[in-house]
Amino acid sequence: MAGLRALSLDRVSKHYGPARALDDVSLTVAGGEFLTLLGPSGSGKTTLLMSIAGFVAPTGGRILLNGQPIQHLPPERRNFGMVFQGYALFPHLSVARNVAFPLEVRGTPRAEIANKVKEALELVRLGGFADRLPRQLSGGQQQRVALARALVFAPHLLLLDEPLSALDRKLRADMQIELKSFHRQIGLTFIYVTHDQEEALSMSDRVAILREGKVLQLGAPTDLYERPATRFVAEFLGKSNFLSGTVERRSGESFAFRCNGLLFEQQGGESPVGASVLVALRPERLRVVGDGSQPRNQVEGTTAEFSYLGTSFHLLADTAIGRLAVTIPTWRHGASPVVGGKITLGWDPDASIRVEDD
Ligand SMILES: Nc1ncnc2c1ncn2[C@@H]1O[C@H](COP(=O)(O)OP(=O)(O)O)[C@@H](O)[C@H]1O
Ligand SMILES: [Mg+2]
Repeated sequence: MAGLRALSLDRVSKHYGPARALDDVSLTVAGGEFLTLLGPSGSGKTTLLMSIAGFVAPTGGRILLNGQPIQHLPPERRNFGMVFQGYALFPHLSVARNVAFPLEVRGTPRAEIANKVKEALELVRLGGFADRLPRQLSGGQQQRVALARALVFAPHLLLLDEPLSALDRKLRADMQIELKSFHRQIGLTFIYVTHDQEEALSMSDRVAILREGKVLQLGAPTDLYERPATRFVAEFLGKSNFLSGTVERRSGESFAFRCNGLLFEQQGGESPVGASVLVALRPERLRVVGDGSQPRNQVEGTTAEFSYLGTSFHLLADTAIGRLAVTIPTWRHGASPVVGGKITLGWDPDASIRVEDD
């Protein structure tokens, strides 16, 4: 496959009249990396991918492949593979002809086409399906044909826009594993768009969180989940409880803040006494006090909802600091809380995360 190319976006913007579909986006994708653009509908993911592909002309900024500006090049000169939502296979052409198409457009000699198509179909494990029509294949197989078609001409990188969103849940999960394994096998740079947070976390080397045309945070899945910078990222990537309060005292690497009359300790520096703070607390980092744990921060409440989900319990408790969502692994749990009963919840100062409000 092609050599590895790094792709950089340098202050890329796309304006539609007063609307900013992309607002000053800068990022670098390393050669061979699996980078995911994650954001809600309308956040600019497709516009960003289409700008990279060359189908959307940015209003400003530069796009560089291995340091060379490419924003003036038409799509076919960029040599990027693309896989879209809904595959867009030619229904009247065989699998082999579908995969051959990009090579035919490029005027590749016949014998070479036959070899490359065979190779690409073997890569996606469809070696025996060359003569079938797309409708004679399952959804997952059609998706693999689309992938073979995007890879057959040895592209510099592969762009994927919500390629799995038309598939049902189970097939989607299988294809996620498959795509990741293709990525590992061919080592090509993948830029992947999704609005599905679990998909982004499970597949990517790094994830860029988009909102209103801006990259809010970019990092490895664990960085983003464990250290979200803002309320939006903490909420968009997983679930979170939020506590807002005022810093009352500081001691070394931690501070105490008051929230609805109660004092809690929080790890992390910077915040001066008197400052307003917002703290994100993941449901799985809360514990039920009395299960053998004595966390530093504690709050009493009443169980409002309780459900058993097999691997975990999920409960909602009304407390002096609001309604808290709690997830407890089944194995760690003692007696089942009763709806309407008293409960004490707790967490340690390093279990919660100070975030910016946005
Ligand atoms: N051709 C266009 N003309 C006007 N506005 C557009 C056009 N394409 C996209 N937009 C707007 O740009 C924003 C980002 O769109 P898009 O990139 O499709 O988001 P996403 O893929 O994240 O759902 C949206 O507000 C959308 O309405
Ligand atoms: Mg889109």
